[in-house]
Amino acid sequence: MKICVVGLGYLGATHAVAMATLGHEVLGIDLDTNKVDYLNAGKVPFHEPGLQESLREALSTESVAFQTSFEMTEPASVIFICVGTPQTVSGKSADTSFVFSAGESLAKVITPETVVIGKSTVPVGTAAALRDRISEVAGFPIHLAWNPEFLREGTALEDSLEPDRIVIGSWDDYSSQKLKEVYKPILDRGTPLVEVDVPTAELVKVAANAFLATKVSFINAMAEIAEVSGADAVELAKAIGYDERIGNKFLRNGIGFGGGCLPKDIRGFVARAEELGAGEAVSFLKDVDAINQRRRARVLSLAAEELGELKNKKVLMLGLSFKPDSDDMRDSPPLDIALRLARAGAQVTVHDPVALSALGDKHPELIMEQDLSAAAKDQELVILGTEWSEYKSIDPASFGDLVANKLIIDGRNVLDVASWQAAGWRLIALGRNVHN
Ligand code: UDX
Repeated sequence: MKICVVGLGYLGATHAVAMATLGHEVLGIDLDTNKVDYLNAGKVPFHEPGLQESLREALSTESVAFQTSFEMTEPASVIFICVGTPQTVSGKSADTSFVFSAGESLAKVITPETVVIGKSTVPVGTAAALRDRISEVAGFPIHLAWNPEFLREGTALEDSLEPDRIVIGSWDDYSSQKLKEVYKPILDRGTPLVEVDVPTAELVKVAANAFLATKVSFINAMAEIAEVSGADAVELAKAIGYDERIGNKFLRNGIGFGGGCLPKDIRGFVARAEELGAGEAVSFLKDVDAINQRRRARVLSLAAEELGELKNKKVLMLGLSFKPDSDDMRDSPPLDIALRLARAGAQVTVHDPVALSALGDKHPELIMEQDLSAAAKDQELVILGTEWSEYKSIDPASFGDLVANKLIIDGRNVLDVASWQAAGWRLIALGRNVHN
């Protein structure tokens, strides 16, 4: 099928490559010339394992191309809207202006047969307004459906090609049939298909992210209790996670969630629910957000407790991305903690296997060091902020020879406490009373 993908960020670039991998002929559109040039040259503008290889394969068979204009030689049967919906600058709601401007631009190139499909995460009710607006600009009633995406950074392509489920929200049979054609190879493998109405499809995504955020904050709340009661939140998570109704995933306590989705989605959800007069229903998400923020503050207070005055103290942050296998630092807990430590007067060195180049010269108050041994030299406190595999495999004995003070806060609970302590480190693990 001829498919067009509008918006080439994490979601759109991955979706374009995934659609080409499924055998479709794909045109990706983004107003950012740099992004388009990069992708046409076979380069992915962000860190996503495996995506570049698949992009190059798709380019070599001419099944994908990227451009900045909406002009098409032949109309696409399906146009996916994958633009971002960031948090508004003035408030906590999601900014849907890019969705509407993309809709208005594509309205000029569609035919009555084209199906427009929303994938962006939007406040419930956006799809209906978007359908009306595109129809108005196009001059005929358009087909529009909603098809939320659940891809995680780090495993984005795999999540797109082997999803747990496909959700289709539509007002008419024609649109849902077209989407089923798009996903035929995936559906033929027996992947569950959930067909719903459009508002449900819009809600599914924010509801899923709200649930995941709640799970992380739940275990972080337990960590707060563990810290004052002598209990161990890691063992607690293991014990409750064996109950299949609870499950052991997304129960890792630490410095909390970040990224381009979970934090902004829960805030946007609260804002939309309040607009709809149902704010009370999700007001608990404000607590979910607050618990998440408190974990960052906890690291700051631990650092102050351990070091006394933070001014001029040398601190090393291991990891800056919001999670491993990504260079995304949007609302990243380790970056936030590093900046707050620097504001408190500490000399903060930051290390990350991939994210430093994306940081560029945005934060001159942080000392960037690409070499791990050089980064460790003379540090008085080390904080593990992102659980990159290379940090998990650090040898505590030789690493200890480099630092000035063998003190580490494990913000992700991934280090082997016994071996770090045996190497003479004082290790503080969040939510665990294991300090020596
Ligand atoms: C998330 C959703 O998982 C995905 O389905 C949706 O499409 C987009 O948002 P992503 O933002 O890539 O994906 O990150 P995710 O893997 O969900 O992790 C989010 C954050 O939670 C990370 O900062 C991670 O470190 C943190 N986290 C996750 C924990 O602190 N503890 C856990 O147990 C799990």
